[in-house]
Amino acid sequence: MSVSDLNESSISDLFEEHMKNPNILMIGTTVATGFEWEAIDECREKLQKHLRVVKGRGKVYFNIDWDQFAKVQEMRSIDNIYIVADTARYSFGQSKESKKADLELFVDSVNKSTNLSKGLDAWKRATNFKGKLYPTIEEYNVAKEQALAAKTEVSEIDNEKKEEEEPKSESKEKDAPDARKKKKRGQDPSESKEDDILKYRVTCERTGEHSFESNDVAKVVGGELQEKYHWIVDLCTYHLEIVCKLMQNFMLTHLRVTHESKHRRNIENFGPTTLRSTICYNLLRLAHPKPGDLIVDPMCGGGSIPIEAALAYPQSHVLCGDNHPKAVNRAQSNASVVGCEVGLVQWNASKLPFKDSFVDIIVTDMPFGKRSGTKSDNRVLYKQFLLELGRVVKLSSGRIVLLTYDRNSFKQALQTAGDLFWVKKTVGANIGGLQAVVYVLSRTHVSHHDFKPRVVKQYNRPKA
Ligand SMILES: C[S@@+](CC[C@H](N)C(=O)[O-])C[C@H]1O[C@@H](n2cnc3c(N)ncnc32)[C@H](O)[C@@H]1O
Repeated sequence: MSVSDLNESSISDLFEEHMKNPNILMIGTTVATGFEWEAIDECREKLQKHLRVVKGRGKVYFNIDWDQFAKVQEMRSIDNIYIVADTARYSFGQSKESKKADLELFVDSVNKSTNLSKGLDAWKRATNFKGKLYPTIEEYNVAKEQALAAKTEVSEIDNEKKEEEEPKSESKEKDAPDARKKKKRGQDPSESKEDDILKYRVTCERTGEHSFESNDVAKVVGGELQEKYHWIVDLCTYHLEIVCKLMQNFMLTHLRVTHESKHRRNIENFGPTTLRSTICYNLLRLAHPKPGDLIVDPMCGGGSIPIEAALAYPQSHVLCGDNHPKAVNRAQSNASVVGCEVGLVQWNASKLPFKDSFVDIIVTDMPFGKRSGTKSDNRVLYKQFLLELGRVVKLSSGRIVLLTYDRNSFKQALQTAGDLFWVKKTVGANIGGLQAVVYVLSRTHVSHHDFKPRVVKQYNRPKA
């Protein structure tokens, strides 16, 4: 089995097309693992019906005409956007001893064959970077001296502050997490000035066995690019992040366009289980909302799903609720920050205030027993909840998308609810490092009144 989850020849084909045609750009995007097909559907819907895409784990690559770039930036399913600026193939040695020679291959390739100009020019346009992409060595020397002087000044001020704060050692410890939070990761290139020289950093992601570490690649490539382009290395306040993705012997060089991941777009007040806006959008897509549909999130937490629903599907009606008063307040405050209209109620999801067969779409992220709820609560709650959905969701046409990490409780609940639903599909997703499942259900034509919940016998393991 290949160590790379990307088809190298398909990726090379895309890149060849990018190199041949001045108007074509190769784009790489990241998406939460499991939702790649939703991102591909969105690309085809918004860019081109028969768009050629290359799918990897948590990534989607495609080519666009330059004038479609704004549409890519508006996409809601993806987290980050990159311009693919270069590809390279290496013949590494087979042993640990080949490290020096292997790293020398990166030096050679940056100097002899790497040509980032097309990608860099596109990156400058895409991010609205106003500074200098190709400074002279003299400009670099001046900028480097200024950067050094600024650094010395900052560290002198820091030292003075430290000395002033030294006696209050208790409060210093308390403040530490806040200071960490404020640490910047890169700066928005659009806020640069005309005289600024590009500040950059190189990172490397690697799959496969090599004689070297990812950091070695970042250092070597970063150093050679600095010689070649006279840029300033800045690991914290860089304008440009260059991500080298090495898959065994094949490397893709990406220029990061999104200064901040797009999943942060809607939420101001984060809670313990806040879901990324991009994942919310992908869940909503699975329900295929249509104009006029009533979309409900009965367990909305801080409101990430209903807020995304109201913004992405403004022609639908959105209602949500939670049984916890703090969650309802948080959802209210998040909705008012982005100024979107969602109806919000404190309720019990197992007793919803709707008439029978009333709701078109339910999309929710259920309590899962680690950060929210407990597994034994889930067994009861999931059954009651599914039966309630069987009552309120429209017969035959209603769609339900449920995210859970507690597959066993959900399966038991589904057995109990039997003929009320049919499972259209399940999607395995990795969410914040936890393995989750998304169930996409359709409401059958079986009336809630005629339905008798199935009694599911539970097997209890005998005590040892
Ligand atoms: C996983 S969290 C939802 C997180 C949400 N998607 C967000 O991004 O903030 C599950 C939510 O279900 C709520 N919940 C648990 N049992 C409930 C019930 N019986 N009725 C309504 N809400 C319930 C919890 O209070 C919690 O806010």
